[in-house]
Amino acid sequence: MRSHLLNDTTAEQYRRSVTEGIERVAAKLAATDRPFTGVTVDALAPAIDAIDLDKPLLDTGAVLDELEDVYLRDAVYFHHPRYLAHLNCPVVIPAVLGEAILSAVNSSLDTWDQSAGGTLIERKLIDWTTARIGLGPAADGVFTSGGTQSNLQALLLAREEAKTDTTAKLRIFASEVSHFSVKKSAKLLGLSPDSVVTIPVDQNKRMQTVALAHELERCKAAGLVPMAVVATAGTTDFGSIDPLPEIAELCAQYGTWMHVDAAYGCGLLASVKYRGRIDGIERADSVTVDYHKSFFQPVSSSAVLVRDAATLRHATYHAEYLNPKRMVQERIPNQVDKSLQTTRRFDALKLWVTLRTMGADGIGQLFDEVCDLAVEGWKILAADPRYDVVVEPTLSTLVFRYIPAAVTDPSEIDRANLYARKALFASGDAVVAGTKVQGRHYLKFTLLNPETTTEDIAAVLDLIAGHAEQYLGESLDRAS
Ligand SMILES: Cc1ncc(COP(=O)(O)O)c(C=O)c1O
Repeated sequence: MRSHLLNDTTAEQYRRSVTEGIERVAAKLAATDRPFTGVTVDALAPAIDAIDLDKPLLDTGAVLDELEDVYLRDAVYFHHPRYLAHLNCPVVIPAVLGEAILSAVNSSLDTWDQSAGGTLIERKLIDWTTARIGLGPAADGVFTSGGTQSNLQALLLAREEAKTDTTAKLRIFASEVSHFSVKKSAKLLGLSPDSVVTIPVDQNKRMQTVALAHELERCKAAGLVPMAVVATAGTTDFGSIDPLPEIAELCAQYGTWMHVDAAYGCGLLASVKYRGRIDGIERADSVTVDYHKSFFQPVSSSAVLVRDAATLRHATYHAEYLNPKRMVQERIPNQVDKSLQTTRRFDALKLWVTLRTMGADGIGQLFDEVCDLAVEGWKILAADPRYDVVVEPTLSTLVFRYIPAAVTDPSEIDRANLYARKALFASGDAVVAGTKVQGRHYLKFTLLNPETTTEDIAAVLDLIAGHAEQYLGESLDRAS
């Protein structure tokens, strides 16, 4: 069994084994003609259930053959141009190279003595990101597992910085289309169930700052403490960007922590054309960025950044065995002092290899391309009488609904759209997402693949219309 341990004596087997796996995946990617096979849970589960984990196959080729049956054949492939559903990007090859290196070396980024150069590389990428945001000379941050964890950590710091005698008085302000991790964080942070105050959005799905000002004033008058405003720079459904400069003004006026959730919109930090859309982000106290959404990085790759490095002390605990206090005086850089995690992947390496290979402009150009594609997609939808499209894109999502000419019952239209999404998924021809707008079911394209074309968009709209019409036709038959 020792032959499976990766070390000096097995380097050749490592090379062979990983190459075999990579060759399978490369062949798979080259042959994939649909984003999904349409497999159902019922069809796939028995194959996985039947595998006896206590009876190993003892051979890499056999394991990969089995993996083909239980995973690779039916996986959902984000690299396919007709995968248009969630905030998953196709990944760039330099990042995948970084991923292969980081898992083989297996550094852990909690302490210097488990990572050495890895720590310095992560720190340099944090500095690079804070400089792109414009957070100033005292800024810092740390890589996290994703936007949810970044938002949680930012709100933890905001809670600790808030001046209050009881957490019961703390309030967080976020728009009605902010990410649900804000509410989850409030719960995890022990805040009261009504701690998140929902602020309405305008017709472009941006936080209404007049309503925010009103709620902040109401909060103050009631003797409550405005702990944080969460501005979203790229909402999950609409890609809308809250008015950051106005929100920054209000935060300054009320002495409130400003957190910018740029999990999605952070791609604009590298944008060649559209960086101006997130102006005002530099005034934040903390920022969430998800490189695994708009920097074309594999999951996971995210960071939380703060204006004032000192605020990260709220996540600092010392353990004699790991990061004793004296190491701070000795200026030994232990990233665990800033993180909610202890053992932590060297995810930063993927971004490092990406930037060193392609440069930031290379990434920014790819993101600009999908933003431009969304504008073209919006034009197609707006000109198509079969569809209602909700809002002009700021980033790269489109929310729309099939509206058959002959049907007026909104519930029946809901059912037709729900059916179309499911039928499309089952066919595997394309994958789209869904959401609700003012209580009604809508469909969503999240465009993150520069390989997707306007022809793809038009073809998928035809497929959706076909499925919806089939549902309505069958529904008529059922009624008659
Ligand atoms: C605006 C926003 N914030 C936070 C998150 C959570 O990020 P993650 O899924 O990486 O935890 C998402 C995910 O879609 C998001 O869209």
